[in-house]
Order: sequence, then C-alpha cells, then structure tokens
Amino acid sequence: MIYDFNKVINRDRTNSVKWEFVGHHVAGARDDTLPLWVADMDFPCAQPIIDALHARVDRLIFGYSDPYTEEYLSAVTGWFERRFNWIIDPEHLVVAPGVVPAIGVLLRILTQPGDGVIIQRPVYYPFTNMITGNGRRVINNPLSLSDGRYAMDFADLEAKASDPANTMMILCSPHNPVGRVWTPEELIRAAEICQKHEVVLISDEIHCDLVRRGVTQIPTRLLSDSDQIITCTSASKTFNLAGLHICNCIVSSEKIRQEWQAEQRGRMGLSGGNAMGIAATQAAYNQGEEWLEQVLDYLDANLQFMAEFIAERLPQAAFTIPQGTYLPWIDLRGYGLTGPELEERILGQANIALDQGYIFGPEGEGFERINAACPRSILTDCLERMAKVLEG
Ligand SMILES: Cc1ncc(COP(=O)(O)O)c(C=O)c1O
Repeated sequence: MIYDFNKVINRDRTNSVKWEFVGHHVAGARDDTLPLWVADMDFPCAQPIIDALHARVDRLIFGYSDPYTEEYLSAVTGWFERRFNWIIDPEHLVVAPGVVPAIGVLLRILTQPGDGVIIQRPVYYPFTNMITGNGRRVINNPLSLSDGRYAMDFADLEAKASDPANTMMILCSPHNPVGRVWTPEELIRAAEICQKHEVVLISDEIHCDLVRRGVTQIPTRLLSDSDQIITCTSASKTFNLAGLHICNCIVSSEKIRQEWQAEQRGRMGLSGGNAMGIAATQAAYNQGEEWLEQVLDYLDANLQFMAEFIAERLPQAAFTIPQGTYLPWIDLRGYGLTGPELEERILGQANIALDQGYIFGPEGEGFERINAACPRSILTDCLERMAKVLEG
C-alpha cells in the first residue's frame, strides 16, 4: 500500500498534546500557533495497526490485559532480529507504560537518593526531570560540537564515571536532539567506561528505527557483554503510537528484572498493560515495515528540503541533517539574538512553537529543535515564517 504523507490530517479534538494543548505546554503559544515541537508525527498510522485496533475494538471488552504472551514477545523479538540482527531472549523483555516511566523505575531501583546520574547535554530534557524529580543529581558530560558534528567527551566521561557517587548513565542513542547515530567505537568506549566503574548504563534507543538511509544504528547491548546495560525501546516513536503508552525494555539481568517488577507492580500498582497498546505494538512489529520504509523516505526528503531551504533562505543558520530522529536541530546563534529575542521572533512574531534549545541544557542556547515528521506543506510554512522573522 502506498501512503500519502503530504496529506494534512486534522487533529482537532483528538486530545493532541502537540496541537490542542500547545497553549498549556508552551508558554506564550496561542490556539492558532503552528506546532512543530513535541515528538509525534502528523502522518497517518500504518494500516495494519489501524486494522488491528479495529479488530481489537470488535472484541468488545477492554478488561485488564497482560502483554506477556508468546505472540506479543515474538513480535518484539522478531523485529529486533530482522532489523538489527539482535537475538533477544523473550524472557529478558520488560514491558512498561513508556520509556520515561521506565527510566523513573530504573532510577529508583538502581540508584540511591543523592547519587549522581550522568547525561550528555544538550539532551532530551525529561532525563533531567526524572533524575532531579527522584532526588538524584544530574552529572553533565556535555557533548562537544565541532564543524557541525557533536561528539562525546570520553576523558570527562571517564572522570565522572570513576567517581563512586555517580552510579548510572543515561545514554541517548540515537541522540535527541543533536541527531547523532553513535558509531560502534563510540558505543563500545562509553559501555567500557561504565562497566569498568560499575556505572549502570541505560541506553535509551527509542529513536533506533528512525535513521537516515545509509546510516547504521547498532544496539549498545549488542556491542558489550555487560548485563548492567538496559535498553529502552518502543514502537511508539517508530510508529507514532505515543498515546497508547507501552514500551519494551531489554533487561538481561534477572535480578534487575525482579526488582523492576517489584517496583512497577508491587509499589506502583501497575500490574497490566494497555490493551490497545499491546494490539498496536504487535501489528506494528509484525506488519509495519512497509509503512516505516515509506516514512523513512519521506523524512529523508523533508530533511534534504530543509537543508536546501536553510542554505538559501536562512544563511546565518548552521544546519547538519541529523543521522537519526526526525527532530532536526538548527543552530541560530549566527543571528546574534539572545534567547528571549529569538523566542520573540519565533513564537511571538512567526507564531510557531518549536522546542527552544536551552530546554535541553544551557549548551542548547541559540538552537531550536524542529519536528520534521509532518507534511511538506507544514514544514515549508514553518521555514517560510522563520525566514521572514529572521531575514526580513
Ligand atoms: C529520547 C527519548 N526518550 C523517551 C521519549 C518518550 O518516551 P515515552 O513516550 O515512551 O515515555 C522520547 C520522546 O520524544 C525521547 O525522545
């Protein structure tokens, strides 16, 4: 089946956080603000998922549901075997209501209050919220930026990992918002440093399927024998199912799995799974590949278009097509505006809601993150408005 991702789909009155609730989440946004902020797609969902959800609705009853069936587990493991040559023991899967809630559980069971948790800013800001919200400390191992390419600072990472007060690292792979897909060498080095200093490594690979043509994403756990690496992944980002609240984590340590269930089921009372999320994930991983291949082509074309537009119409901006994610990160420091001045132009004058770079850490000041998983006409409208307020 051929999908039409150019078609604009009306998301009014679907409880969309991105569109309907933009005013609640982005200070200064209005009802008619063009929203290219939070990471969900404005594309129609894969037809096999829609069909599976319809079929599930037709079963008429939505009682407590458990995801741990052979059918569900093999859908998940089959996907990672086909797409990443990763053979996962189905017993190692832990299902949670989302990657961010999973990180919250992991923080509580694997670290103590006051412990340091290493992250690499500028990075997905809920990492910070979960760390500080759970009474742990953010230990920043900032990424370096040179010639438009971000890299890890391994000397700094080693110094921070060697401090016994720092007990966990949260790696973002691919990295949101800088768009890097880490090389095997980088992943091995980060994993080795963590292993050497007994730092548990959470590898958030929620964007693992969303990489550019010709770029290879490798699961961190495939490159290391450490069972202190926990991989968080989900069909929700790949197939745009975030509202169905389900994710899959790969946890090879039985002890950690038991502690996880004791926290999630025992102390939080989250004993089941989301019935619609289970049906959708199963269909996505079993039958979603045709749709995903078309989305990947469309995203590549959107990002290429964006690079050309920026080169021509926003000449003071610096831009590199991200290797992974659909969240291009644009460096607007060349316009010489302060953070509030930039925001006044983008949100106040252009009436666009983007994710302002500084929310990912002070290293992001002067950058904006744009959500390019939208019809080309919406992306064009956004870029035209930006050119108008920045270039006149
Ligand atoms: C790196 C990263 N992790 C986690 C999430 C959210 O995961 P969930 O909706 O499963 O909590 C996102 C969403 O954008 C993300 O970019």
